[in-house]
This record gives sequence, C-alpha cells and structure tokens, in this order.
Amino acid sequence: MPLVNTKEMFKKAYDGGYAIGAFNVNNMEIVQGIVDACQQQNAPVILQCSSSARKYARHLYLRKMVEAAAEETGLPIALHLDHGPDFETCKSCIDGGFTSVMIDGSHFDFEENIAITKKVVDYAHQYGVTVEGELGQLAGIEDEVSVDADKASYTDPAQVQEFVEKTGVDSLAIAIGTSHGAFKFKPGQKPQLRFDILQEVSERLPGFPIVLHGASSVMPEYVAMIRQYGGKMDDAIGIPEDMLRQAAASAVCKINVDSDLRIALTAAIRKHLAENPTHFDPRQILTPARAAITDVVTHKITTVLGCANRA
Ligand code: G3H
Ligand code: 13P
Ligand code: ZN
Repeated sequence: MPLVNTKEMFKKAYDGGYAIGAFNVNNMEIVQGIVDACQQQNAPVILQCSSSARKYARHLYLRKMVEAAAEETGLPIALHLDHGPDFETCKSCIDGGFTSVMIDGSHFDFEENIAITKKVVDYAHQYGVTVEGELGQLAGIEDEVSVDADKASYTDPAQVQEFVEKTGVDSLAIAIGTSHGAFKFKPGQKPQLRFDILQEVSERLPGFPIVLHGASSVMPEYVAMIRQYGGKMDDAIGIPEDMLRQAAASAVCKINVDSDLRIALTAAIRKHLAENPTHFDPRQILTPARAAITDVVTHKITTVLGCANRA
C-alpha cells in the first residue's frame, strides 16, 4: 500500500473516539519495531521524523524504510515531518515524498505563526500533503526543540478558530501541560493536564483533529531497567496513562511518542550488554532492542490509544 496522508485516519479516529500513535523514527530497528506491533494489532500508524532525525539517518533512507514498512504490511502508514522549523524544510519533505508535515510556528507571535503556517498549507495541499500547526508552547527539551518551563504557555482557546480558518491546517497541536522528554514534572509535583482547555478547544472546533505532543508516559519498568543496569534516570516522570486514555477518547486524534521508545531501546541494550559482556555483533545487541520497541508500541495501541483493528 502506498503511504497515506492523515486525512482519512484522523476522520476515523475522531468519529471512533480513539487516537493514532505518532512515533518518532531514526533507524531501521525503530521502524521495524513499531510496524511489527502495528501489524500484529492491525493498527494504522504515523511514523514521524524530526529535522535531527533527517540529519542523522538522512531523508532518503528514512523515506525508503517507511515505504518498505507500508509495502510489507499493507497498513495505512503516514510519513510525517515532526516540528518542521521553516518553510524550506517542509517543502523539502513535501517534494521528497512525505505525506504529512508539521510546521511548528508556536514560538512566533500569532500573526507570524498564521503567515508561515498558511504558506506551508498552500504549498502542501497542492500535493495532497496534510499539515499540522501548533498554538501554545510545550516545555521540555529534545534535541532541536527546547523550551524552558517558564517560557512554556498553554494554548489560548480564544485563538484556535481564527488560526484554523486563516491557515487551513488539517490538525492542530495544543499545549495543555504535556512536555517533551523524560522529565515532564518536577519531583513531588502532581502530574496535571488542562483538560478544560482541551474541552474548550474542541467545542470551538467541532470535528477537528487535535494533536498532543510530549505524550510519553515514561514507563516505569524501562526506567527501572535502565537504573538496574547502570544508567542514571533519576526523577524521570511522564504523563499518567489514564490521562492519555482520556485524551485519546476525546478530540485528540494523534498522540506523539518518542521518549518511551528511546528509553525502552536503551534499557534493552543495557540489559543485553550487561548479561552478554562478550557480544559485539550489532544484530545480537539490537534484536532485543527492536523487540522492546514492539512491546512498548503494542502496549500503547492496546491500552492507551485504542487504535487496534482500525487499519
Ligand atoms: O519533539 C521532538 C521529537 O521527540 C524529536 O526529537 O529532535 O531529538 O529527534 P529529536
Ligand atoms: P515525548 O518526548 O513525550 O515522547 O514527545 C515526543 C513528541 O512530542 C515528538 O514530537
Ligand atoms: Zn513534539
């Protein structure tokens, strides 16, 4: 099956009260680990690449791997640019076979965000590529996306209609208290999300797909494994799964997960090397790492997102 854009999958997710998992990919083991789970669960999926992933793995390799995944599985798979920083990067992904892009103008003022987002939408829609915009700023650090907690800001529901109407975006990422990375809340701080903002946004945008970034739950079993095998991950805190389930059942149609994959991959590699100190074949080291990715994605699909058997 050729790669698809997000239009149809978001419509079904909105109507069905579930969310599609959007997982960040950087190499073959991550792509295969994710799609193995999706195939077993018959789940649609978004595989997304950040600018730094494109720098690391290179655009063509990423696209060909994701195309191979779609061809091998027959699943609806969208190839999405995560946090597109500017028009040129979005254009390069659109020209280079991505089926969906995010233009992240959230750090600009409202008018500038509208202008750059509209420019990307006008270009993308000529080629059937869907566009995600963002209003409000998440806290957290992940390579090229870095926002101090005191500069983060919740989405203002009063702005969303104007933004969507003026830009023509296909989905909107909002800030309700999630954040990027593995340290989402301060030690002792009670994890909280502003579901009141999500509610107000969805009332103002009936039928419109909402996106949640920074939605890893920082799964305790993998954090414990990292610590057991010599890694340091003190004070890692994610979004509680019951909150993610609540979001997935609402207007949220896309839930972004990267850190949970990184943590599981690292935990599995640490464990394998600790238990097999003589191994130096990357296939032996990365086989359990790929399986750990499959376990995480299976868990997300079946217990958080609700997208099993929706392909
Ligand atoms: O939101 C950011 C993504 O997790 C991508 O992170 O730039 O380290 O690939 P990255
Ligand atoms: P996490 O760091 O919570 O996995 O968020 C990933 C993300 O939002 C990618 O855009
Ligand atoms: Zn993000």
